[in-house]
Amino acid sequence: MTDPEAKPLLAPAKVNLALHVTGRRDDGYHLLDSLVVFADIGDRVQVTPAGEWSLTVSGPRAAGVPTDESNLCLKAARFAGTPVAIHLEKHLPSEAGIGGGSSDAAAVLRGIAALGTPIPKGTEQLGADVPVCLTPRAARMQGVGEHVSPVTTLPPLPALLVNPGRPVATPAVFKQLETRDNPEMGPLPERLRDPEEAALYLSSLRNDLEGPAMALEPAIGAALSALGALPLCLLARMSGSGASCFALFPTQEAARTAGRMLSAAHPDWWVCDTVLS
Ligand code: C5P
Repeated sequence: MTDPEAKPLLAPAKVNLALHVTGRRDDGYHLLDSLVVFADIGDRVQVTPAGEWSLTVSGPRAAGVPTDESNLCLKAARFAGTPVAIHLEKHLPSEAGIGGGSSDAAAVLRGIAALGTPIPKGTEQLGADVPVCLTPRAARMQGVGEHVSPVTTLPPLPALLVNPGRPVATPAVFKQLETRDNPEMGPLPERLRDPEEAALYLSSLRNDLEGPAMALEPAIGAALSALGALPLCLLARMSGSGASCFALFPTQEAARTAGRMLSAAHPDWWVCDTVLS
């Protein structure tokens, strides 16, 4: 049983503002150069000491989330070596490019660390996004996800997150990539003062997985077009390997208004306004 008194940890949504695929290792894994930020919304994870490993799931997006050993939360807890009872309150869409699995797993590891077991090295083996999610703050992620360095360049970014409700398998997207040795992001600017300046800079970067993912799932193209057409949208791009996309706005009010318009036009899409930092 999980302890109802234990404080839940936020496992925030992760967003790749840019994701360059810069090469491929001999084992088939791709080398990445990505600028990652986190939302102020996410899943909630409760971790309590227990005699054996267990996982329960609740929340608005719990349907279809496995509670067996295939769940990354349990894999992470076993990786840390400490038996715990985990309760996951699911708010984020799964397999959606915004870190549903990785951010949950990282929160489990943070919870276990708070109980006294240090986080083991090599967490990228659990998932490429787990290391960056261990400290959910703006960061540049390189290698296959194991090199993480904090980034202080960015202002808080009012944004909309959108998922058109179609799961996309990450390996299939990587397989679809034609060019695997794209240029790195280059040095980041020292400081971007506001969302307009940030969006202008980000428009010089890319998500190299966007084209391949759109080819597999046309709903991504529809989401990007719909975001791009919203009033005051500064930039619309896919996150991770999709299918979730984000759009940046000058103010939170503009993001909220745009979110209401998008939800009305596409009631079946998951739409959420947030601030990325
Ligand atoms: O680590 P994650 O679970 O996100 O990876 C899922 C799959 O995506 C991997 O099995 C691999 O096929 C592909 N991948 C990759 N290079 C990366 C990350 C993932 O080729 N850096």
